[in-house]
Amino acid sequence: MSNYHIKSFDEYYHVYRKSVREPENFWEEVAEEHFLWRKKWDKVLSWDFNKPEIKWFENAKLNITENCIDRHLHIRSDKTAILWEPNDPNEPAEHITYKDLYHRVNKFANVLKSQGIQKGDRVCIYLPMIPELAVAVLACARIGAIHSVVFAGFSSTALATRINDSTCKMVITSDGSYRGSKSIDLKGIVDAALEDCPGVASVLVVKRIDSEINMKEGRDQWVQPLLDEASDICTPEIMDAEDPLFILYTSGSTGRPKGMLHTTGGYMVYTAYTFKNVFQYREDDVYWCTADVGWITGHSYIIYGPLANGATTVMFEGVPSYPDSGRFWEIVQKHKVNQFYTAPTAIRALAKEDVGLVEKYDLSSLKVLGSVGEPINEEAWHWYDNHVGKKKCPIVDTWWQTETGGIMVSPIPFVTPTKPTYATLPMPGIQPALMDENGEEVKGNQVDGRLCIKFPWPGMARSVWGDHQRFKDTYFSAFENKYFTGDGALRDEVGYYRITGRVDDVIIVSGHNLGTAPIEDAINEHPAVAESAIVGFPHDVKGNALYGYVMLKDIGEYRDRDNLRKEINQQISDKIGPIAKLDKIQFVSGLPKTRSGKIMRRILRKIASKDTANLGDTSTLLNPDVVEKIMEDVLV
Ligand code: WT7
Repeated sequence: MSNYHIKSFDEYYHVYRKSVREPENFWEEVAEEHFLWRKKWDKVLSWDFNKPEIKWFENAKLNITENCIDRHLHIRSDKTAILWEPNDPNEPAEHITYKDLYHRVNKFANVLKSQGIQKGDRVCIYLPMIPELAVAVLACARIGAIHSVVFAGFSSTALATRINDSTCKMVITSDGSYRGSKSIDLKGIVDAALEDCPGVASVLVVKRIDSEINMKEGRDQWVQPLLDEASDICTPEIMDAEDPLFILYTSGSTGRPKGMLHTTGGYMVYTAYTFKNVFQYREDDVYWCTADVGWITGHSYIIYGPLANGATTVMFEGVPSYPDSGRFWEIVQKHKVNQFYTAPTAIRALAKEDVGLVEKYDLSSLKVLGSVGEPINEEAWHWYDNHVGKKKCPIVDTWWQTETGGIMVSPIPFVTPTKPTYATLPMPGIQPALMDENGEEVKGNQVDGRLCIKFPWPGMARSVWGDHQRFKDTYFSAFENKYFTGDGALRDEVGYYRITGRVDDVIIVSGHNLGTAPIEDAINEHPAVAESAIVGFPHDVKGNALYGYVMLKDIGEYRDRDNLRKEINQQISDKIGPIAKLDKIQFVSGLPKTRSGKIMRRILRKIASKDTANLGDTSTLLNPDVVEKIMEDVLV
């Protein structure tokens, strides 16, 4: 029996038990069965969650692009690796075979080298969903440069912060991007960011929208002429299993984003293994994940996981609503997609549209449907099941995080019976624990608690770039000897997990992980603002939307409140990006605080979600009168 591809529920339990009893043997067998190692490891695992230090496949040597590309050349050289679907349905799709990908990645890698990029250097990639994004990511990995992809919806300030945090030497971008009927001036955003980034020596620019842009002499170059000159052979850099592969930023409880650091060997094994099992991928399937490569979902399940399995992975440039809200289904029909992986927010938005837009298309190719990024509510689950899956496609509700590198809790389709709103069971190798307020593990079923993981897994992040202490404080300090996820969860009568949401200061809006602190910082920079607090409140499409309580310095001064609201949102848009804009802004005369000066968000959350019948314990409030006032003035 192979550990790699689980085909029955009995087999799941067998494999799972083995993975808990003998984790090292389990992962060693997976790693040996399916990958190309230049040298095998001396030791499968060493770990210490107190330091924390986690090492998988110590001293093994490999290059992940050899596993994702070269290894497939003799059997799959003409198979489509990346199937790119452009924003405009009238523009032809691009079928990039494994052989094409090999040449394109090698050329790009040689261009990076010619620009002085070496192993260990950080390269920031700020690109739309075009093939060059995947090519640039893989080109970095080919030469051992550490990629830091920044989602191309982030503002210039957010981009600059990320570039500087990891001292990137180079930025790869494009002249612009298409999003539905709009085009966006990406190069302009990069130019603005680079005014504050003295460490960036060069900028490579991909041509996408043919706009007039500014090219700074000595810094900026069009990439195409360099690619034309470059050799299409590039010997892969041989990396240690624990050498860094990439940095990806996620928000946290302070204004500074956390650069999660992922390494090479374990990440490869984990994303490949989970991809194969969670999507039950078969050789000729066409797989599509609608995420952006700017998020971890795109790293692990558009690029690395699928390519490590020799899969055909669809990459879509556009948005679900352009030219109309049938676009996803049109693409499924056009490319005969077999596995479709998207976010609950997209499902909820599309479920609001005329169902004829789904029924119009032939979706019979679909076998497996996936969901990721936030809890999927019952209504959205059933709509997905009925109208997209026609009740014959299992829905895999996959719970995981930027920090976990890959899927942690999920049904295995055709193996694990699904249950709406439940992510169900842990993947092999994953040992969840629910913890109570006193730091004790809650055993047994029909219980809830804070979700932790008790044992390392190969895909987990190894550090926060430049701030290992923060890695320890955030993830390994709340509960002794455990990784703390920041989520709450419950375990039902058969042991299935349901993720109930964040228990910290992170709010998930449309599947995007937003920290309250950076948004509050952005608002507080407005000259009229004294202080602010952000909370989430339920929203029927976004899952959560943001509600801001804003205290002005001088209430009398600003008479035009609507204009001030616009200015505050513009401020957020400039500092972070449009995804962090507030849906509601209430001006208040004060914020409820504890005697130690902490804002009592719990109360503000209740007011924002109109759940004020029982505000809970308010005895530690310093200023109860403020709460009364906020409730009186609450926005309708
Ligand atoms: C947070 C991580 C995983 C890639 C995309 C988001 C929430 C994620 C689910 C799910 C309920 C989920 C959690 C988690 N989340 N998937 N299936 N059910 N909640 O990555 O931006 O790092 O966010 O997203 O709260 O902690 P991320």
